[in-house]
Amino acid sequence: MAKPDILLVGPYPEWDLVELEAQYNVRKLYEAEDRDAFVQDHADGIRAIATRGELGASAELIARLPKLEIVSVYGVGYDAVNLDACRARGIRVTNTPDVLTNDVADLGVAMMLVQSRGMIGAETWVRDGSWGTKGLYPLKRRVWGRKAGVLGLGRIGFEVAKRLKGFDMDIAYSDVAAKPYAEGMTFIADPVELARHSDFLFVTLAASTVTRHIVSKNVIEALGPEGMLINISRASNIDEEALLAALESGALGSAALDVFEAEPKLNPRFLELGNVLVQPHHASGTIETRKAMGKLVRDNLAAHFAGASLPTPVL
Ligand code: 8YV
Repeated sequence: MAKPDILLVGPYPEWDLVELEAQYNVRKLYEAEDRDAFVQDHADGIRAIATRGELGASAELIARLPKLEIVSVYGVGYDAVNLDACRARGIRVTNTPDVLTNDVADLGVAMMLVQSRGMIGAETWVRDGSWGTKGLYPLKRRVWGRKAGVLGLGRIGFEVAKRLKGFDMDIAYSDVAAKPYAEGMTFIADPVELARHSDFLFVTLAASTVTRHIVSKNVIEALGPEGMLINISRASNIDEEALLAALESGALGSAALDVFEAEPKLNPRFLELGNVLVQPHHASGTIETRKAMGKLVRDNLAAHFAGASLPTPVL
């Protein structure tokens, strides 16, 4: 049987590419000099899109592929896939939940520790000789025993909260409703109230048009000049302009961010700030997790082409 054609929107690790190429004709959109012409040339053959969480698949791309049957996302977030366009044509969508949960939670907690204890500056203090010439490194803020808020107590939020318990933190959360599994955590429905109650606010909710800018100017200001915002979800959950203004004025103490609007081209104002820790959207970026994500993408595609039920369907 002829190999099905799939459109690969952005690069995958080599180990995944080898496996995909054994089963499919992989059309690499990201390598094309003229992407429009490339899509035009391959449009009639492509039956699947393999994409990444942050790249998704737009309505425009979907409309140009008349034979498209499935979009398989390497990532848990599918906010960048136009679900309405898929629904309208019965196109299946899959993602890679669960396998990345613990790594994403680990990075969120690590960012809180690194930022609160000033570890990036401390590293520079040693390397540039300041330790010898200036003496002791400036004192920073503790983490253990303080108040944490988790905005979105889903799989990732819950794992963040579980880890924070190990730091004897007072944990509150916000979600559409109180969660039966949130033992020992306080439910605060209103994100502004959650922020007011928190020293550290973790943004862990799945992004959608409904959650856009849920971390508003009011939430940011309620977190306040001593507060820290940690984002391991999507940039769209935060009003980035309000965040930048608050970090610049000191209305917000600090931030630790793994995601940005228009990433990888982040707003250069972030780079001028001393109170923000910036990371290159790598919360799921361990070899173990990325291998599991790649396998799940392939398992979903294989199930689809075998007419079997999909392991992790979104649609
Ligand atoms: C990316 C993610 O997909 O899971 C998600 O939603 O955004 C990430 O895991 C990953 O960085 C690959 O690009």
